[in-house]
Amino acid sequence: MAKNELIFNGNEKQVFSTDDPTRVIFRYKDVTTAYHGVKRARFAGKGALTNQISALLLGYLNENGVETHYISTIDEREQLCRMIEIIPLEVVFHNRIAGSLATKLGVEDGMKPANTILDLCYNNDELGDPLINRDQAVALNLATYQELDLMYDIVRRSGKLLTDLLHKAGIELVDAKFEFGRAADTGAIIISDELSPDTCRMWDEATGERLDKDRFRLDLGDMVDSYGIVLEKLKNVMEAE
Ligand code: TMP
Repeated sequence: MAKNELIFNGNEKQVFSTDDPTRVIFRYKDVTTAYHGVKRARFAGKGALTNQISALLLGYLNENGVETHYISTIDEREQLCRMIEIIPLEVVFHNRIAGSLATKLGVEDGMKPANTILDLCYNNDELGDPLINRDQAVALNLATYQELDLMYDIVRRSGKLLTDLLHKAGIELVDAKFEFGRAADTGAIIISDELSPDTCRMWDEATGERLDKDRFRLDLGDMVDSYGIVLEKLKNVMEAE
């Protein structure tokens, strides 16, 4: 499918239109940003890794009854996706309390609660993607209550599927951020954006080592190598399935 105009130039990804108004091409960049764009760097090979990991995880959800925007992989850096109307909300799934949630609640980073926690955020860089509640989201016409219920249900199902898959690969899914859109082809609410160590915390179950963007946020080094480990472990377990 022909790649046409650049329609969105994000920090870490670009989106191009195609000949088909219901299809777009996502291109994953080598740029990494953190703290809402305040910290920024380029890592050769990062985009190829996040593209491949995201393709595996989104594809896995598709195969397991959760619709996502991912259709197929074009090459190392690009994937063909369904066009969506963006819903500017993020639902963050937490198996552990880490990062900004640990700071907010004043608990040790990585505390394991008995329950799973879902947070709703307003996807708005200028405001720093603040937490928002359901009533506020509906008041801003970002989604209806019914759509929010559906998004929460999708996140619970996806969180469980990904937690179990990554566990088989020896990786603990600590948290994961989900974005949504209304599909241009069917109107259904589907998962969009990406699922990778850029948008999920992933820890090595054997060593407790962080294999995700915290390596950049916390200046731990070896971020690209860690993403490579995630990809290899995932490929091994998915090929064996
Ligand atoms: P946080 O600790 O920054 O709140 O992030 C929680 C998880 O969600 C972490 O894996 C990063 C991911 N996330 C994003 O990728 N983008 C976002 O805008 C937000 C709020 C979280």
